[in-house]
Amino acid sequence: MILEVQAGQRLDSRGNPTVQVDVKTSHGVFRAMVPSGASTGSHEAVELRDKDKPAYGGKGVLGAVDNVRSIIGPALIEKGFNPQNQQKEIDAFMCELDGTPNKSRLGANAILGVSMACSRAGAAAADIPLYEFLRREANENGAYIMPVPFFNVLDGGRHSGNTMAFREFMIAPTGAQSFEEALRMGSETYSALQSLIARKFGPPATGIGDEGGFAPPITTPEEALDLLTEAVDESGYTGKIKFAIDSASSEFFKDGVYDLGFKTEEANPKSPAQMMELYNGILDKYPIALLEDPFAEDDWDSWTKFNENCQHELVGDDLLVANVDRVRMAHEKKACNSMLLKVNQIGTVSEAIEAARFAKSLDWSVFVSHRSGETTDDFIADLAVGLATGHIKSGAPCRGERVAKYNRLLEIETDQKDSWKPWSYAGEKFRFPEIS
Ligand code: PGA
Ligand code: ZN
Repeated sequence: MILEVQAGQRLDSRGNPTVQVDVKTSHGVFRAMVPSGASTGSHEAVELRDKDKPAYGGKGVLGAVDNVRSIIGPALIEKGFNPQNQQKEIDAFMCELDGTPNKSRLGANAILGVSMACSRAGAAAADIPLYEFLRREANENGAYIMPVPFFNVLDGGRHSGNTMAFREFMIAPTGAQSFEEALRMGSETYSALQSLIARKFGPPATGIGDEGGFAPPITTPEEALDLLTEAVDESGYTGKIKFAIDSASSEFFKDGVYDLGFKTEEANPKSPAQMMELYNGILDKYPIALLEDPFAEDDWDSWTKFNENCQHELVGDDLLVANVDRVRMAHEKKACNSMLLKVNQIGTVSEAIEAARFAKSLDWSVFVSHRSGETTDDFIADLAVGLATGHIKSGAPCRGERVAKYNRLLEIETDQKDSWKPWSYAGEKFRFPEIS
């Protein structure tokens, strides 16, 4: 039973306020901290910010904190919910208490903090790890799957100060045999990339963006992918590491045109057809595992057209915002074949699980993701294992809030794998992991 719910305003990795929640039960105190995106899709659940107050430039979350303390907490305690077996009821109750379709009254940040803390309380009550609790919530009963980490090692878009329009260039050690090896490969390649950038552009160019990726003065995707190729070759992992791109293209789409020069003085407009040509060119030339948000969130026609002839994983982030209705629409339109899963886009753990299950039922893959504004909360590591999603992205193998998730995954694999029968590292099968 929930005995007490406390909340406080804390800072996220960008120095912006975020919500921390403590749920107290007879098993202890269970904490969660909520992440926040830079470019929130316009269809996401609403995070409540103190817009009318001057503190933190209107980004404070004291209103959301107060909603946890004075509305959500007392209501949950009064209902006598048991987190061990009532996660769905707790989440549904909070949605009802909010009463809006996008959680804008109490705030998705308030609701999610409580939801995540309740999962931890539930796992402790059942005396099982968090991933096991989430696995049971999701009715997952196949093999235990350690996900392939997709490390964002080059930042562009709104996450950095360079002129690169596309936002993330990731490396994915699909050729590793375990998560532990994947982490080593990622870290070594990251170091090689750092030296390479220092050599090519000078040491000041090794500054990093919001997610820990480097942000050297490059502009085109080919420049980025050539740098990655060189870093992988230098590390000795040729053929064992694939690349991935999150274009986050809603950021530079306007009036039917993609402006690749949106961060410079000079416009560089591309039609959807030219964008498709660009993507096809790089898919042919480089070992690319997936493209995320190659087209804008409401440019459905381009998504559908591109997906028709594409053998690659096409991940919808801003397009879907992990919302079941948008996933359904995307499926009807045959717009993509994979869903990015960011828990705070939806606002409760149960809804996140439901969205993942729904995507899987359509034979889509699911890609678990952090936000650009993160905390040291490592919840999503357990989520990726619990839902057996086969891949996760949590930024570079650098910056405390990014490595918190990777370290948790390492801990899970190291401590638990002997008790899992069967288990595997997803590797090349990151889209649809299964035991061979
Ligand atoms: P965001 O970025 O958290 O700023 O939305 C992360 C992503 O889109 O992958
Ligand atoms: Zn994205």
